[in-house]
This record gives sequence, C-alpha cells and structure tokens, in this order.
Amino acid sequence: MLSNNTEKNEIAPVSIPINLNDYQKLARAKLPKMVYDYFAGAAEDEFTHQRNQSEYQDWLLNYRVLTGVAQRNPGVNLLGKHYSYPFAVAPMAFHQLAHPAGECGVAQAAAKMRIPFTVSTMSNASLEEIAMSSTGDKWFQLYVFKDRGLTKSIVQRAEAAGYQMFQVTVDVPVLGRRERDMRNAFTLPEGLTIKNFEDNSTASHFVGEHGKVGQAVYTLCHFDAGLNWKDIEWLCQLTSLPVLVKGIINAEDAFLALNHGAAGVVVSNHGGRQLDSVPSTIEVLPEICDRLAGQGAVLIDGGIRRGTDIIKALALGADFVQIGRPMLWGLALEGKSGVEKVMQILIDELDTAMALMGIERIDQLNRSMIVSRRGRGK
Ligand code: FNR
Ligand code: LAC
Repeated sequence: MLSNNTEKNEIAPVSIPINLNDYQKLARAKLPKMVYDYFAGAAEDEFTHQRNQSEYQDWLLNYRVLTGVAQRNPGVNLLGKHYSYPFAVAPMAFHQLAHPAGECGVAQAAAKMRIPFTVSTMSNASLEEIAMSSTGDKWFQLYVFKDRGLTKSIVQRAEAAGYQMFQVTVDVPVLGRRERDMRNAFTLPEGLTIKNFEDNSTASHFVGEHGKVGQAVYTLCHFDAGLNWKDIEWLCQLTSLPVLVKGIINAEDAFLALNHGAAGVVVSNHGGRQLDSVPSTIEVLPEICDRLAGQGAVLIDGGIRRGTDIIKALALGADFVQIGRPMLWGLALEGKSGVEKVMQILIDELDTAMALMGIERIDQLNRSMIVSRRGRGK
C-alpha cells in the first residue's frame, strides 16, 4: 500500500485553521500590512516578544497515569469569584482595525464561551457600548492620564457600566519603539477613533508620519510618565473594585503593588511591545509567585498559544492567564465567530492536556508536575 502512495509529503498551506498559529498565518494573509504589523509587532528587535513564546518550550510536563480522569473540570476561583476556564482575553487597543465587529464582537464571543474579556482604555467602541453588548464577565484595563479628573471619570464610568475589576497598566510611561509601526507610519484610519474620549481633546494627537508613530506622540501628550506608587494608592482608594497592577516582571515590584493596595498583579511585558530585552513572563513567574506567597492574585500574559502553555503557567503558580494577539487573529478572519473558534481551540487543548496530565481539576496542578529543561541538563 505504502509504495502505491504517490502523494508528496508537502507541507500544505493552511486552509482550515486547527491551532492558534494557523489563525495567525491566515490573518496575516488577510489584513492590511499596517494593521498586521501593529498587532503582530513588538519593540525594537522583538527579542522579548519571541522569548515570551519560545521560553514555554523550556518547561516540560511531568504527567501521571492511572489517576482516573473521566470527570474533568477546568474551572477556577479568582478574587472570590468562580470562572469556567482559567483564561481571559488580554486588553488590546483598537479591535475595529481587525474587523468592524470590534470590541463588541469580542465581548459577545467571550460571553458565549464564558471567558472574561479585559477591555482596553484605547477601544474603538466606548466602554459603555461594550458593556451593553453582552452580559459576560468584563474587566477594565486602565491607563492613567496626566489629567487625573479624566482618569477618575473613566474609573467611575467603568464601575457604573458593570466592569468587575481594574487592571492598571504601568509599563507605558512612554511608548516602546515599535519599528514596524515607525516604517508604516502607523495611524488610525479615517472613521476609527478612541471612542472613550470622542468629545474630548484626548482623542487628538494621533497622526502618523514616516519614522514617527501617531500612538507614540499620543502617549507622550496624554499618559503620565510621572506615575508612581502613590498614584496606585490613590487609584485603589478611588474604587471599591479590585485593582491589579499590569506590567510587572520584578518580584519586588509585585510585592510593592500589594503593599500599595492592589489585589494582585498581571505578570506582563506588554507582549514585548515596550522594553525589549526583558525576560519572558514565564521565566519570572516562579520568583514572583514565591515572593507573593499566595497573598495576592497572580495573572500572566505573553506568548500563551497552547493549552499546554496554560497548564505550565498554572503549574508554576499563576491563578489565571490572559491571551492577546490570537484573539485578534480570530476576529480578523471571521469576526465574532472567529474569536469563539480561537477560544474553543484553547478550551479543547486545555481539556486534552488535563486528561493527559492525569488531573481532573486545575487545583491539582503544582510544581512537581513541571520541570525545567535546564534542570534536566539539556
Ligand atoms: C496590547 N497590549 C495592551 N495592554 C494594555 O494594557 N493596554 C492596551 O491597550 C494594550 N494594547 C495592545 C494592543 C495590541 C495590538 C497588542 C498585541 C497588545 C498588551 C496585551 O494586554 C498583552 O500584555 C499582550 O498582548 C500579551 O501577549 P500575547 O498573548 O499577545 O503574546
Ligand atoms: C499598545 C498600547 C495601546 O500596545 O498599549 O499598542
């Protein structure tokens, strides 16, 4: 039989995506270059961005057998609330660049799949429109503006609209140098705005020109590079909702975040889009978890593309993970149903990984189930 098989063993081009990397390839073929580069790109040599993904290969899973895995449940608790799955959509700006369904489409997909959605301050739909578009769990990512009155009003609007948690992003005192965006003179196309500030001059200063990114000018004008720990205290006192500090890669900073009133941290390097040459998030996760010793919530994002990546982050001590770019690939390809499919792939991969790891519950994961390749002398 084999000798009669004349079919060549060529790598077929992706037609039906079956994993998140397939989604990226198809989205790349579909999106305008400026948009794809903005989504896919990162700072300078993109060293950290690549490392976020590649360092997951440094961890090997230590599965157990004959434990009985017929009744698997991927649910977890976070900050006193139960969630069906241990992953959320990471906050990302400008979803309507991917597809007209934009943030509202992602919110509806997330609600259907029972996945929390972290909405960026820099959305193309207003935070109220997004909140009203679905009944799912929604968290709000906050940028602190120089104008504290404006910042306070955003906090109050997000609370009033029913968001359940804040993630204050602290790794953007200035924008990282994203060279793809500099070459493309990345800007928002006609018709798309930063909707939360439409009636306000804060929506201005976003025009690209060669070698200059509109977004960098915008950040310089409006984000507060003077932000410090006192401001985190101010923010935590301003709201009754839990505040997580997003953009932490240092264990001492994680500890300081809790000391200044935060309920936890998001271990993140902004998907490698800010300071290049920093460690991947999975590398620094264990020391951060050790430093916090269970005192606050630990979320992580950056480079998570597989169910096994989720398992690795949770086994090393994270309480929850967030997934960024792949959600935009799904959105770009098929609007909200594309996002649902990306989520379903992750859910299926997670379920398979749980069964093959020999666990029925996420809280059975621990560090005995994961080993560093380096620790094995490889
Ligand atoms: C982001 N990220 C981000 N983070 C944030 O706090 N506020 C924001 O508005 C944005 N915007 C944004 C836009 C785009 C296009 C990307 C790709 C990322 C960072 C994001 O929340 C997250 O930290 C990383 O994207 C996670 O890495 P992966 O999963 O994309 O590798
Ligand atoms: C970005 C900003 C908006 O990464 O956070 O593009």
